[in-house]
Amino acid sequence: MTKTDQLHQAHGGELVNRELTGKEKENKLNEVKSLNTHTLNAWGISDIELIGIGGFSPLTGFMGQADYESVVNNYRLADGTIWSIPITLSVSNEQADKYQIGEEIALQGEDGIIYGTLELKEKYTYDKELEAQNIYGTTEDKHPGVKKLYERGDVYLAGPITLLQRPDHGEFNKFYMDPSETRKMFADLGWKTVVGFQTRNPVHRAHEYIQKCALEAVDGLLLNPLVGETKSDDIPADIRMESYQTILKHYYPEDRTRLAIYPAAMRYAGPKESVLHAIVRKNFGCTHFIVGRDHAGVGDYYGTYEAQEFISQFEGELGIQIFKFEHAFFCTECGNMGTAKTCPHDKEFHVHLSGTKVREKLRNGERPPKEFSRPEVADILIKGMQQN
Ligand code: ADX
Repeated sequence: MTKTDQLHQAHGGELVNRELTGKEKENKLNEVKSLNTHTLNAWGISDIELIGIGGFSPLTGFMGQADYESVVNNYRLADGTIWSIPITLSVSNEQADKYQIGEEIALQGEDGIIYGTLELKEKYTYDKELEAQNIYGTTEDKHPGVKKLYERGDVYLAGPITLLQRPDHGEFNKFYMDPSETRKMFADLGWKTVVGFQTRNPVHRAHEYIQKCALEAVDGLLLNPLVGETKSDDIPADIRMESYQTILKHYYPEDRTRLAIYPAAMRYAGPKESVLHAIVRKNFGCTHFIVGRDHAGVGDYYGTYEAQEFISQFEGELGIQIFKFEHAFFCTECGNMGTAKTCPHDKEFHVHLSGTKVREKLRNGERPPKEFSRPEVADILIKGMQQN
């Protein structure tokens, strides 16, 4: 096997497919009518979708206790495979009592649609503060991920899932691709090396700079924005998607870039989430992944390069190469983008705007400086922010 083949392997070796289609799906949909039904929120539905289509390979379901405890304590599944964030299904004690080990449970969304089933193998309680500390790096409930964790039921249900229905991503459907489709697309395009880019923000000049630096070294770029649940003050996914299409059209080579959605919920787990993000992009067929400043961060919970330091310990074993970038900015003296590695000038020459400042400008109908944001992107964000 060549090095490139290894890099294209799914995490754990095989791309998981837990989805039923055609006749098998029809039969299963008839069977589920007689099963107990559990309702999942949007986050839970996105988890079964990602397990089902292989984005979370090698997971085949919600984690059992051995995997869960191993992930929380060692950032590895029980068999040693790197995995940095628990993928779990929580229920209340009362709900847990309703279900018997061995039974199959229908999993429905809040919209009443049955999205899949769970073959219940285990029920176990867990230590929320330990999970908070080890995964989010804090036990404070002001952290949006920790807040969500504390709101969860006290019992985890575990076992393999079957995906019966992929969620409808509405206007984003045309940017939806499962891992086998992205892999095929890369092969069809003749891309042997592909860098994946995670984002939950509009693409600003700093993002563009690090993407293009990476693109100088590989065949293609997969712009892979997260469109699942985010916190309320992040820019909504529909506005971001419009801005991505615009920036790609105006500033990126069409034959070297593709846009596809990453339908997961944002955890804001910084360093731990950077590893999950890299693993998922590996499953989608990327050979490289970008981790810049404060990846998947929120507030001041993580150091600027903590994600890079954390992911570094797994490099070599991860099966996807990590491009690490320092904080990028526009320097008015250089007249271009750079980082502390490439620009010798003082901070006063660096164009820097906080997220809050940018949002304030956009809400007031003002474009941020063109050194910060492309005008075409700024205009879409202004329109979007004013409508919201
Ligand atoms: S994230 O939560 O999805 O990581 P964001 O969309 O802001 O947030 O970042 C996407 C990627 O770009 C992350 O890898 C992040 O580290 C990187 N990044 C964002 N801003 C900068 C910057 N100014 N310089 C270098 N890297 C950056």
